[in-house]
Amino acid sequence: MSSIVSPLRLLLLGAPGSGKGTQTSKLLKRFPSINSLSSGDVLRSQIALNSPIGQEASGYIKMGRLVPDSTMVQLITSQLQQKNWLHSDATWLLDGFPRTAPQAQALNVILSESNANINMVVELDVDQSVILERIEARWVHLPSGRVYSLDYNPPKVPFKDDITGESLSKRDDDTAEVFQKRLDQYNSEIEPLKRFYEAQGTLHKISGNTSDIIFPKLETLILENFGK
Ligand code: AP5
Ligand code: MG
Repeated sequence: MSSIVSPLRLLLLGAPGSGKGTQTSKLLKRFPSINSLSSGDVLRSQIALNSPIGQEASGYIKMGRLVPDSTMVQLITSQLQQKNWLHSDATWLLDGFPRTAPQAQALNVILSESNANINMVVELDVDQSVILERIEARWVHLPSGRVYSLDYNPPKVPFKDDITGESLSKRDDDTAEVFQKRLDQYNSEIEPLKRFYEAQGTLHKISGNTSDIIFPKLETLILENFGK
């Protein structure tokens, strides 16, 4: 089977519930050389640790607002350093960061210094009416970030994580009211962010509402640009 042969540094963009986490899991299974980092998962683990960043972030997340740019840039940059991802041979995937133009600009400076710029950005374009239904059906394993849906990818044992057998839970920010705020916030930030990556020539868009449309397109796009 074809694989990735040149360094891929991929950013997945998309509304809350568009499937960033789900496509990430599929990509990690299909391409074992990819490592991933989800800003939402990093924040939720900081909250579980009750760290100073977790305490700061928790209030924003509960209200469906974005955590301030300076906090996010600091948090994610230090993760990139710890993971040794700041070099030109690194292959990785970011889910959920950057999500504002100032975050993208700040990250771009840091990555440029290491010759490790993001070289592909993919926007997952899913109708927002479809997304609202998905969130009702979403259950998560908080410690790992693994995502399930009662309809689309149910756990093998109801309400239990497939790997650890631990209980699944609902995210605090998945209530109808907070979810609508997250969507509104996404819609207000996305255009300048897309313009930033469009100007760099890295932006792609994949559209699809039903279960198995997006992944084959994503796989093809990656192989055409980074595989053999
Ligand atoms: P984050 O955790 O990143 O949440 P989000 O962007 O709102 O996205 P979600 O995780 O809700 O959705 P997803 O796209 O991963 O979809 P999923 O694969 O689960 O961020 C949370 C909060 O943290 C933010 O609101 C903000 O406060 C803060 N934050 C994070 N990053 C930040 C940043 N950079 N700056 C500032 N603040 C930040 O799929 C959804 C459901 O649909 C699942 O149940 C899944 O099984 C199902 N599904 C997926 N694909 C399909 C399909 N093809 N067909 C049918 N069902 C599907
Ligand atoms: Mg997610």
